[in-house]
Amino acid sequence: MLALRGDGGALLGAATLAVLLQAGCAAPVPSREVAILTGGDPGRGAGLLVRHGCIACHTVEAVPQARGQVGPSLDGVGRRPFIAGRLENTPEHLIRWVQDARGLVPETAMPSLGVPEQDARDIAAFLYQQP
Ligand code: HEC
Repeated sequence: MLALRGDGGALLGAATLAVLLQAGCAAPVPSREVAILTGGDPGRGAGLLVRHGCIACHTVEAVPQARGQVGPSLDGVGRRPFIAGRLENTPEHLIRWVQDARGLVPETAMPSLGVPEQDARDIAAFLYQQP
């Protein structure tokens, strides 16, 4: 299980992300930064969104098969202050949300999909790169 409030490195990661977000970056966060912040490989994200069935419910411009309308578009997730309107948008929260949304917010309509931690990190890295 991922700790919500992790070690110093995790907190530093969250602080760095917050700075990037507050800088109002219109451009996606570069790969090296998202890899450091999430411990994930953004290059694996698109394939994993398909494999784990995220595309049934979500739209992502960069993934042609992802045109679902059940949940919000996953474009621009990195620019939103909150995940699901209530969790502070940190890499730790996003990774854990992808693994176990209902463990964080029991009443959410998004199911917990049992995504392995490394896959969740790769997905989070990818999502933080989407404009
Ligand atoms: C059965 C439909 C469904 C599936 C499958 C699904 N989601 Fe969701 N997702 C939702 C819904 C509905 C919400 C809105 C939840 C809320 O606000 O409580 C959501 C919210 C989210 C959010 C937060 C977006 C935001 O801006 O607040 C992220 C990120 C996300 N989903 C990623 C994923 C990923 C990654 C997968 C695949 C591992 C996935 N979802 C699979 C329905 C789904």
